[in-house]
Amino acid sequence: MTLRKTVIRGTGFAVPSNIVTNDDLSKTVDTSDEWIRTRTGIEERRIAPPETGNSDLAIEAARKALDRAGLSAEDIDLIIVSTITPDMVSPATACLVQNALGAKHAATFDLEAACSGFIYALSVARQYIATGEYNHVLVVASEVLSRITDWSDRSTCVLFGDGAGAAVLSGTDEGESDFVSFFLGGNGKYADILNMPAGGSRKPASHETVDAREHTMKMNGPEVFKAAVMKMNHSMRQVLTRAGLQSSDVDIVIPHQANLRIIESLRKYLDLPEDKVYVNLQKYGNTSAASIAIALAELVESGRLVRGQLVGMCTFGGGLTWAACLLRY
Ligand SMILES: CC(C)(COP(=O)(O)OP(=O)(O)OC[C@H]1O[C@@H](n2cnc3c(N)ncnc32)[C@H](O)[C@@H]1OP(=O)(O)O)[C@@H](O)C(=O)NCCC(=O)NCCS
Repeated sequence: MTLRKTVIRGTGFAVPSNIVTNDDLSKTVDTSDEWIRTRTGIEERRIAPPETGNSDLAIEAARKALDRAGLSAEDIDLIIVSTITPDMVSPATACLVQNALGAKHAATFDLEAACSGFIYALSVARQYIATGEYNHVLVVASEVLSRITDWSDRSTCVLFGDGAGAAVLSGTDEGESDFVSFFLGGNGKYADILNMPAGGSRKPASHETVDAREHTMKMNGPEVFKAAVMKMNHSMRQVLTRAGLQSSDVDIVIPHQANLRIIESLRKYLDLPEDKVYVNLQKYGNTSAASIAIALAELVESGRLVRGQLVGMCTFGGGLTWAACLLRY
């Protein structure tokens, strides 16, 4: 069976207009701009207003991606939304996006792999396209992390932000654009070091869970830090080995935007110059699944990423999960 090539035909992103700076946070928790900048690299983040749901950001990013792809919503065969902050548990946010766009021929599902979700979703979309099952797949990664953040916990609330990124993937028989390699991983043994304990079927919402702030993210920062560097490095090496390439062959690497110190360690392990590693976390903080999707769309929009270039993307997140891919853009 001949596999079809996959091109990322259009990208888009959407972030709320409301900016919350480190100084703003230092008014509500015991922290400082200096601490947050030096420990994380984050300067500000976008926080959605109360009336904005995940699907609102997802739809805005998706519309831009469709527009740039030159396709109509009716051309889309499948919509995958990757998120840990869906509008609601059911229906899937992908259904809400489909309805708003008028993508009436599209199948729909959500995919949850925390901060690894965008690369996981790209790999799924790519399978459908490569086999010829679908021709156009819309992948959206969208998060409103502010709704599951404990705003009284200084060790986590300074890290996260809201936003969405989208990509339209299409089958192609021309040109050199295609995914070169993927690597996905996970280990549920570490489920406890980054999770949201309540709100699922094991611990549904109750007065007790609300009082104990169990509907917000809990994290062992130093443990997650160590795993992040190790797993992103491992994942990038896997995709390079699978492709028979060196890190010096890559034009740009988009790492998950969690912490500048994690990105710096990764950059050194991979022996990459600074200008080959894209960083935008100073503006948005960690937007989980949306982080790489937003960065990819920004790179395309700014003209920094052009057709024919080799892009590496790598990530890690709750689960734990981790993933990487190489894309000939
Ligand atoms: C969270 C993180 C920035 C903390 O940095 P760190 O250097 O590991 O700091 P520690 O957790 O060891 O805490 C050091 C001190 O700073 C304090 N601290 C934590 N958050 C603080 C804040 N926002 N402002 C000021 N002080 C803070 C701690 O209370 C601790 O104080 P203590 O020594 O008196 O107990 C870092 O661990 C990290 O980025 N981890 C990965 C997180 C991540 O990427 N999560 C998302 C995964 S997708």
